Amino acid sequence: MPRTSNFAPLIVTALAGLLAQGCVRPDGAHPTLPGQELFRACVACHGTEGQGTPSVAAPPIAGLPAWYVEAQLGKFRSGLRGYHPDDAEGLRMRPMSRQMMDEAEVKAVSEYVSTLALKPQAPTLTGGDAEKGKAAYGTCMACHGDKGQGNPALKAPPIAGQADWYLLAQLQKFKGGLRGTNPADVSGGQMRPMSLTLADEQAMKNVIAHIGTLPR
Ligand code: HEC
Ligand code: HEC
Repeated sequence: MPRTSNFAPLIVTALAGLLAQGCVRPDGAHPTLPGQELFRACVACHGTEGQGTPSVAAPPIAGLPAWYVEAQLGKFRSGLRGYHPDDAEGLRMRPMSRQMMDEAEVKAVSEYVSTLALKPQAPTLTGGDAEKGKAAYGTCMACHGDKGQGNPALKAPPIAGQADWYLLAQLQKFKGGLRGTNPADVSGGQMRPMSLTLADEQAMKNVIAHIGTLPR
């Protein structure tokens, strides 16, 4: 049996939820739905206002720039993200990205997500040293900006204001080769070597503690 069978029950449950919401459209004819309507397929995990649900490892997405949401949905859809058999959360998100019928719907839902107000995230990690992290952040600044505001020209997302547990999970995924390793994933491939500059989990927590001090 393929290893993906481990995740089948999860995916079936999520799709059943979407069917109940009337979000699965098995028929062929479908005009582009408005972003707000498409977003109904996201709330079960990302929350009614895109605030995220830590218990299912679904990150806050409210206020992420439309270009970044669109790019990530595209990666999930094409298998550049959420492809690794050990990436349980990515595998959970992947079928959800397929709820959008086409590029126009991906754009519409991405625009909608970008209009949602960013929600303040309470810190959940302990033991990070923000002072040490500040030094390490010097490497990150070139792409993510001095205030963690991101840089669309480099396809680097804002990371200030993002939930600390999600930042840690993603740094571990990049470092562990669960994200950013597909040769076709150019921007992920730029981030991956950066994650390798962080020696261990403590170094990650330090830099995340510093990111937590940046205003968004
Ligand atoms: C079954 C739960 C679930 C549903 C429903 C879901 N997601 Fe996700 N989503 C996740 C999880 C879990 C992750 C984290 C993946 C990871 O750790 O790499 C995620 C990640 C994302 C990311 C990446 C965020 C980042 O900062 O890189 C975006 C964007 C996203 N989801 C958008 C959406 C949109 C838009 C919808 C609705 C069309 C949606 N998701 C529906 C679970 C879900
Ligand atoms: C060379 C440019 C570059 C540098 C330097 C860089 N990053 Fe990134 N980073 C990116 C890009 C591009 C992405 C988006 C990858 C993708 O599209 O999947 C990213 C994504 C991320 C993400 C995932 C965000 C999300 O919402 O899923 C985190 C966390 C992150 N970077 C943290 C860091 C940290 C911490 C450093 C410093 C140690 C750093 N980055 C240095 C380019 C960079």
